[in-house]
Amino acid sequence: MSSPLGTPVDRVDGLAKVTGAAKYSADRSLDGLAFGYLVTSTAANGTITAMDVAAARRSPGVLGVYTPFDPLRIIGPATNRSGADAPLQTKDVHHYGEPIGLVVAETFEQARAAANTIRVSYDVRPPATSLRDGIPTAVEPPMRDDEPAVVTVLRPGVPSIEAALDSSEVVVRETYTTPTQNHMAMEPHSAVASWKAGALTIYTANQGSSILVPQLATAMGVPADKIHAIFPFTGGAFGGKFNTYAHITLAAAAARELNRPVKVVFTREQVFSATSTRPDTVQNIALGARADGTLTALRHDAWGTASISRPFVELSSHRTSRRWYATQNLEISQRVVPLNVPGTSIMRAPGEATGSFALESAMDELAWKLGMDPIQLRMKNYAATIPGGNLPWSSKHLDECYRIGAREFGWDRRPREPRATRDGNWLVGTGMATAAYPAFRYPATMKVAYLWDGTAEVSGSTSDLGTGMTTVLALVGADRVGLPLRRVRARLGDSRLSQAGFVGGSCGTASVGPAIMAAVQAATRQLLTLAVTHADSPLHGTPIEDVRYESGQVRSRRRTVPFEAVLRATGSPRIEGEASAAPGNETRQYEMDCFGATFCEVRVHELTGEVRVSRMLGVMDAGRIVNPKTARNQIIGGMVWGVSAALHEGLHYEESGRLANGTLADYLVPVNADIPDVDVHFVEYPDLIHNPLGAKGIGELGIVGMAASVANAVYHATGKRVRDLPITLEQLL
Ligand code: MOS
Repeated sequence: MSSPLGTPVDRVDGLAKVTGAAKYSADRSLDGLAFGYLVTSTAANGTITAMDVAAARRSPGVLGVYTPFDPLRIIGPATNRSGADAPLQTKDVHHYGEPIGLVVAETFEQARAAANTIRVSYDVRPPATSLRDGIPTAVEPPMRDDEPAVVTVLRPGVPSIEAALDSSEVVVRETYTTPTQNHMAMEPHSAVASWKAGALTIYTANQGSSILVPQLATAMGVPADKIHAIFPFTGGAFGGKFNTYAHITLAAAAARELNRPVKVVFTREQVFSATSTRPDTVQNIALGARADGTLTALRHDAWGTASISRPFVELSSHRTSRRWYATQNLEISQRVVPLNVPGTSIMRAPGEATGSFALESAMDELAWKLGMDPIQLRMKNYAATIPGGNLPWSSKHLDECYRIGAREFGWDRRPREPRATRDGNWLVGTGMATAAYPAFRYPATMKVAYLWDGTAEVSGSTSDLGTGMTTVLALVGADRVGLPLRRVRARLGDSRLSQAGFVGGSCGTASVGPAIMAAVQAATRQLLTLAVTHADSPLHGTPIEDVRYESGQVRSRRRTVPFEAVLRATGSPRIEGEASAAPGNETRQYEMDCFGATFCEVRVHELTGEVRVSRMLGVMDAGRIVNPKTARNQIIGGMVWGVSAALHEGLHYEESGRLANGTLADYLVPVNADIPDVDVHFVEYPDLIHNPLGAKGIGELGIVGMAASVANAVYHATGKRVRDLPITLEQLL
């Protein structure tokens, strides 16, 4: 039987999703369910002096009104440590839209109506919301062993990076900026909490119960084994559901207080202000090169926002420059500015998405300055090791991505001058950029079971963010047990299942895949042992070394028996094996990344400045591709986010600190009409050094470099270099 692994298959949960049978957190209804509605601050910096809740308390159906003056008990994380959001524990306000109250009522409408009657008085202080203004007060982020704030690599005899730049024949030195962005997953954040005998059941989308459960346990002051989290479906996340936000802690605390199940769902505006954002950045880049294109110096200094309300510092933009190109002299730095803005967090390719815009724009600028083709410039500085390092990559086929991309896209037909192609009033140009993202892997434990009805089950506590993880579990399981996909069930999204770790950093498949492989071996060992030892088994008495399992059959020299026949004969409803898999020494012996290149063509209207992306191509090197259909979806999705970053997205703050466009009516993202047909091509080299499945990450790779690809195409079309995202009409007129 041929394996379904590597063939393009529909999502195993697709039908449930499109028919509405899939239950997302907010779809859960429990007996006696009450509804909580969040109250948020209308000041960005200051202290709450009073909250008039009298009318709210008298409102119909109201069960409880909680504020900093009458709080629910939620234990916050220790100072400067990450943990669950603990609202209502202070009267201080750190940003506009911060959770400062919860009204619980018999119905959602009653809770909302009552919440709207609450009057809040503040002692307001002027908020700081501008990264640019804050740069003089920037600080180095807390040091992390693997990510120091400043990294310097210099050739012996070179005194400083500036000296290396001074002696370079050609220098590009520019500043690039990227705005605050919001994940804006289709599914708003929601939680349904229910307590029974001191134990909490919580239905809430998240990126890993290994993070959620301990954080929530701390916040509630209960042992972690008293919390059961259930989340079979997550309607988008990409970092936006990594943290334990106030909807979760408030629902849990209110349910305990009222001794009733409580549901809290954020409105779209509350998602903008009460969850998290991608920090905005200011990035200075200086590239020095010889006239032949050899990089002689690379300097990348990045400033990013660190919200006052959440002790989180993004693994910043500067780290793209740490490892993308060969150069003998390099300096990168990261500094942060604490501001009165919503919490910052990881968002799809945190660091690389913004850093690649700066680096890949600067590389394009250097190519023009040298009169060199942008792909040639990148090949000239192709890195065999990271600057100053000596480890080889476990697998790197970036050169092939450039080559195939150039061929498929027709790169050679590109005019060598900017503003050289027009179609009526439309100026046409093309651009490209490199993509790379670290290939992460985390320890994971999975379980595999053979069932008496002839099916197999793969299970673990991992989460499906909409990326197709459920299907990945089924595919890897089907491949290893040798059954057709329809005979393999996948279960995830439950904290009581085998501890499969979290989903983030594009690590899911590479982490759980090897654990599934190991769990199949463990389950098969159990099956064979049962087959030869149980008195009622048709293979009873056969020496264990004479039986093997293959494609659903247990075989000895004389007999071949379907595994379900063994289970039925022995009265065993299921036989299972659990196993863990984790990275080993290879992480110290190799650099490990995923690679790619994106290409795009834009048309810019010379009278209106309107930019239309007319063609896009991504060529990706991400190891073995488990499901080409969903993998392609992931890369396309990432590239669409890149177009969005280039042309649409950006959160703005008013002087008061209010989010000026914190709604989906005002926060622009591309619609179908903004996105052309997209081509995706995988160069498929399974990376068996990285993990025994050979798959690396694809969730974030597609966005990396894409915004620069668009900006570089806009330059080629118009001769105008835009260094501040998003690219707007007025920047092109
Ligand atoms: Mo992703 S930003 O690693 O969830």
